[in-house]
Amino acid sequence: MTLDAALADRIRRTPKAELHVHIEGTLEPELIFRLAQRNQVQLPYPSVEALRAAYAFHDLQSFLDIYYAGASVLLTEEDFFDMTMAYVQRASADNVRHAEIFFDPQTHTARGVDIEVVIDGIADALAQAHTQFDFSSRLILCFLRHLSEEDAFATLEAALPYRDRFVGVGLDSSERGNPPEKFARVFARARELGLHCVPHAGEEGPAQYVADALDILKVERIDHGVRAIDDPALVQRLARERIALTVCPLSNQKLKVYPDLRDHSLKTLLDAGVAVTLHSDDPAYFGGYMNANWEAAFEALPLTADDAHRLARNSFEASFLPAARKAAYLEAVDLFWQQDQPAPAA
Ligand code: ADE
Ligand code: ZN
Repeated sequence: MTLDAALADRIRRTPKAELHVHIEGTLEPELIFRLAQRNQVQLPYPSVEALRAAYAFHDLQSFLDIYYAGASVLLTEEDFFDMTMAYVQRASADNVRHAEIFFDPQTHTARGVDIEVVIDGIADALAQAHTQFDFSSRLILCFLRHLSEEDAFATLEAALPYRDRFVGVGLDSSERGNPPEKFARVFARARELGLHCVPHAGEEGPAQYVADALDILKVERIDHGVRAIDDPALVQRLARERIALTVCPLSNQKLKVYPDLRDHSLKTLLDAGVAVTLHSDDPAYFGGYMNANWEAAFEALPLTADDAHRLARNSFEASFLPAARKAAYLEAVDLFWQQDQPAPAA
């Protein structure tokens, strides 16, 4: 399927929110090498090209191994600041107006980096982005699910002095064998603290993990969730309860969740009334930021202009913005799609 040039232009320009991006996944190979040099970290790759050539993944774990190795160059507040500013510039160029950004503190604290360094570096860049690019954002602290629940508890505890800098907790890393119930208690604690809860589920794991994330972790959105398609009753429930699925097309392709995007479930889910949203996940590793993900989905699937309008609306509706901000963004999206009609054929 080829994407009509006028629609391609409109999906690039529509205002959108990014709800599924790991800040460590925005670290481009060039920046990895620059930071390695700055911090005298030895990398197991001789060049940027050699590192990029290693980005051939066959599943989630083969990606995570390289992703954690890449993050090893992040040591100082300035490193986290530079990485975050680089992401904001790219996202802003794709007309992302608001982002809810994951960070993985355990990846850094396990190497001796203080959690304060991580949070301050990222948060300072986001504060600057707000004034410089009119780019709003929130931070979401992710627990690594291959580690223990005790470790997640200790991480949450260590982050509490910075409670005002993040709005929620997430759950990422190796999904298979690490079901939602492993983190039932720490998510209950996060809820008590008034934090939003948004785990990865149904990426490589089964539809049951999506249902368990809802029932056991009591979450508000699901990251990926594409395997929900295997359970029609669950799809109906997601639609009925307006649980958004933050879908990442290029990630799903590169990690072989859907090796061929023409087989992707997102259009079927959208047509079933599920609040699907589109995002970039780890754009430096998967070959593209927001607009590349939207374009890949629209290239592969029979998605229409109405779908694009709906996807843009869903992204703001599913955000954790206050109601008034949400309404303002939704108005901007609706205005864009009303006014920006393609020129009639001559
Ligand atoms: N961490 C970074 N990207 C991830 C993904 N797609 N799934 C699970 N954990 C991740
Ligand atoms: Zn993710």
